[in-house]
Amino acid sequence: MAIPAVNIVETSAVEFSHGAGSPNSLDGIDLKIARGEFVALIGRNGSGKSTLARHLNAILLPTGGVVRIKGMDTRDEPNVWDVRRGVGMLFQDPDNQIIGTTVEEDTAFGPENLGLSPEVIRERVRAALHAVGMADHAESAPHLLSGGEKQRLALAGVLAMGPELIILDEATSMLDPSAREEIMDLLRRLNREEGITLLHITHRMDEAALADRIVIMDAGRIVLGGTPGEVFSNASLIRELGLELPPVTELFDLLRQDGFDLPAGITDADEALEALMAINSGRMGHVHINQ
Ligand SMILES: Nc1ncnc2c1ncn2[C@@H]1O[C@H](COP(=O)(O)OP(=O)(O)OP(=O)(O)O)[C@@H](O)[C@H]1O
Ligand SMILES: [Mg+2]
Repeated sequence: MAIPAVNIVETSAVEFSHGAGSPNSLDGIDLKIARGEFVALIGRNGSGKSTLARHLNAILLPTGGVVRIKGMDTRDEPNVWDVRRGVGMLFQDPDNQIIGTTVEEDTAFGPENLGLSPEVIRERVRAALHAVGMADHAESAPHLLSGGEKQRLALAGVLAMGPELIILDEATSMLDPSAREEIMDLLRRLNREEGITLLHITHRMDEAALADRIVIMDAGRIVLGGTPGEVFSNASLIRELGLELPPVTELFDLLRQDGFDLPAGITDADEALEALMAINSGRMGHVHINQ
């Protein structure tokens, strides 16, 4: 039996041009994503994030270099079906991904195309709707759902295919704050409990900060990568790349500029509180939080 590749994604020197004469949208991308990782991909508009995402499920093929998914070269025609099945994609507008007339029928659409038996399809649909908290809506008409419910339904359709990697291309950008939080919680749970690898493309730095690792693109290249703490410690570089810091990191950066002795790259409210308490206790000998 073949040993499964450790890296679910492995690209080497990937180049892509939309046509003769147009500049490379991808310009030498070397990216590895290990199984089970949660990676956020950020970068200004037009930096190549969606173009890269489309290479990872063989919608686009590189004009130079190699993309391997689970060790399979996406340019080899016989691999394309396995690549597409293993890599699910969720986009900004769930309406473009919903086709069924009921929630259940919509979720069954993908597994039906895999040629599975009716019992297996039913079980996959049940499990997927349960996972996204939509089991009670199985008979509902998708067009009557809220935006957040529609996106969870689209995610159920992706899950029912049994993907190992899910790519979210700005899949939270149309959602209100509570629906966005629900989807992010759900994704983190799928990542931790089911071991599903995530590549989350987002313009929201607070969402990127939830990932294990952040990769930043600019002009078709990967220009920075590391843990959220490492990446967001480079405040001036982040701004030069047309990005913002997460709100907490931004606040701490301002305080640091004002001379407060605080660590750089704090991205999480709990860490922030701890750092503030450390300062406060250092100065006063004890902590005043509510004053
Ligand atoms: N169909 C196309 N034909 C020609 N050029 C294209 C096409 N699609 C994208 N591009 C170009 O490729 C580059 C990368 O675009 P891409 O959509 O991958 O960026 P992105 O990082 O996803 O941006 P955004 O944050 O706006 O979604 C851009 O310069 C864009 O203009
Ligand atoms: Mg895009």
